Amino acid sequence: MSTKATGTAGHGPAPKTIVITGASRGIGARAAVALAAPGRHLVLMARSEAGLQQTQAAVQKKGARATVLPVDLSSRAGAEAAAEALLQAAGGRLDVLLLNAGTSNHAAFLDSDLDAIEYELRLNYLSPLTILRKCLPHMVTQREGGHVVCVGSLAALMPFPGEASYAASKAALLSLIRSLRVELRDRPVDLTVVLPGYTATEMTENHRTMLPAMAPEQVGAAIAEAVEKRPAIAIPGLSNRLAARLFRTLPGTSDWLLGKVAPLVVPSVVHP
Ligand SMILES: NC(=O)c1ccc[n+]([C@@H]2O[C@H](COP(=O)([O-])OP(=O)(O)OC[C@H]3O[C@@H](n4cnc5c(N)ncnc54)[C@H](OP(=O)(O)O)[C@@H]3O)[C@@H](O)[C@H]2O)c1
Repeated sequence: MSTKATGTAGHGPAPKTIVITGASRGIGARAAVALAAPGRHLVLMARSEAGLQQTQAAVQKKGARATVLPVDLSSRAGAEAAAEALLQAAGGRLDVLLLNAGTSNHAAFLDSDLDAIEYELRLNYLSPLTILRKCLPHMVTQREGGHVVCVGSLAALMPFPGEASYAASKAALLSLIRSLRVELRDRPVDLTVVLPGYTATEMTENHRTMLPAMAPEQVGAAIAEAVEKRPAIAIPGLSNRLAARLFRTLPGTSDWLLGKVAPLVVPSVVHP
């Protein structure tokens, strides 16, 4: 598994209209800047209008057009309305749909709150699913085809203390996109899942861990590369790719090892 293309890459011409959820800060904002180029129209979505406007200014500096679309994706109605709005803002041509908005309910499972877990599942899994159910019928009939890029997480492939419900929500997203990739193999749409590892953003600023973090700019650049190469799965960072390989080939040993080091790397969420 790598950032290299692994499937039916290359449907359609270079992307012109790129829609990004979670573009007000963090990985989504950096991906927007990495993807900005003259001739491109970026539709930037999140709740914070001020954050979106900051990204808009950075994107415009690189010569791209940018439209700000404030939305709240934490309910089914919100995701459905966002899908309608993004199709309209894209003006009938949706080349890249980058579903990046997400959250992490970082807590020991025995202490975690069920409402927070449901919110996380909705934002990380049900909201992208709802947007795809609304937008894919349009994308598969576009003459130019299209590309869906979902931001999952390395946690979808490996267990991690304090991220049980988060990992499950991202595993559901990965499974959805893999299945759709097979189901839509003869349609002019590619689907990619990007699986970042631990990255220094607002989402993780309260995580007390000794793990080394990637910079959001690095992950944004990896997403831009995935938009260009259209792999099935992209994992930014060599050490993350090695970890993914270890957990896939030796799951029992890797889980055991992780259990041993967890009290050292995430002491706040490990129960004695
Ligand atoms: N950071 C990591 O270590 C890491 C690792 C692997 C995967 N990821 C994934 O990368 C993606 C981006 O995360 P990040 O680290 O960049 O986190 P972040 O800095 O917290 O950014 C999250 C983005 O999602 C938006 N968002 C949150 N709730 C929303 C809602 N209800 N409706 C619409 N938009 C909402 C936020 O904007 P508003 O608050 O303005 O709405 C923001 O733009 C997520 O899917 C995350 O799971 C992160």
